[in-house]
Amino acid sequence: MLPHQFLSQFSHPFIVLLVAGAGGANFLIPNYAMSTLREIFESHNGRLIHKWDHYFDIYERYFSPYRGSALNLLEVGISHGGSLQVWREYFGKDANIFAIDINAECKKFEDEKTKILIGSQEDEGFLKQVIDALPPLDILIDDGGHTMNQQLVSFRNLFPAVKNGGIYLIEDTHTSYWREYHGGYKRKTSFIEFSKSLVDQMYAWHIDNDKIVPVNYHTENINSISFYDSVIVFEKRNRHEPFHSMKGEPTITPCANPGLKKESVLHQLRKKLRRKKIQSFVRQFKK
Ligand SMILES: C[S@@+](CC[C@H](N)C(=O)[O-])C[C@H]1O[C@@H](n2cnc3c(N)ncnc32)[C@H](O)[C@@H]1O
Repeated sequence: MLPHQFLSQFSHPFIVLLVAGAGGANFLIPNYAMSTLREIFESHNGRLIHKWDHYFDIYERYFSPYRGSALNLLEVGISHGGSLQVWREYFGKDANIFAIDINAECKKFEDEKTKILIGSQEDEGFLKQVIDALPPLDILIDDGGHTMNQQLVSFRNLFPAVKNGGIYLIEDTHTSYWREYHGGYKRKTSFIEFSKSLVDQMYAWHIDNDKIVPVNYHTENINSISFYDSVIVFEKRNRHEPFHSMKGEPTITPCANPGLKKESVLHQLRKKLRRKKIQSFVRQFKK
């Protein structure tokens, strides 16, 4: 084991190590030696792992706060088991790693802190068993079969298993444009189109007609959706209807926004009604 690999088992980037020096003195040594995920990948010579280079920056951005913690991570798609080794080295010895694959051979990668579950990511019955068996997740990575149905069924069933504040990351979402994977440009059933529709869902509180986009579980639990080339990241956070407020003294006479469209009477009425509905709901809730 290389010195940096030894150190990265323990630590957080900002943790300092207490070392007993000669003559009994203690020295605080900052752990600058902690490797990045890309460095860990570059020096990996264990089981096979295959990754697109630009994924490492995305992982680092979302995953680094969890290093050295006892996080719960689930990866869908194991293949040769290389990613499990890389996650272990990156997150450290306390990480609880869970992984799913349809290939029963992958069971051999199980160890004390790495649990392997065999089944299909598009089998809802299996996914329900997985949720029952696992603790709430900090990070979920979908690197499984990458077909539209696999990604959609997994997201619908497994996003609720992610903790408030956790991350759901889907890899290789370029398959949304590939026919072989049941994708296609602007194809309604692709995972990309589904994710775009979740943008509307996040904005449901601002859409006047709540019959078109009603507030639902995703409105109340998706804090952000980040689209990268071939990767989509969902940040989960419990949300309530947003509100705004003003502080301080007015200083000018505001002018009307000339770019605004005049609303029809019907539209104004509908908006008022909606506001009333929300207010009475809030009042009811406060009682
Ligand atoms: C891209 S590989 C995973 C690579 C691995 N995460 C890595 O980085 O080294 C995809 C894996 O998904 C598995 N897979 C394919 N379809 C699946 C399904 N329906 N359910 C679960 N796993 C599936 C395959 O058996 C394969 O091992």
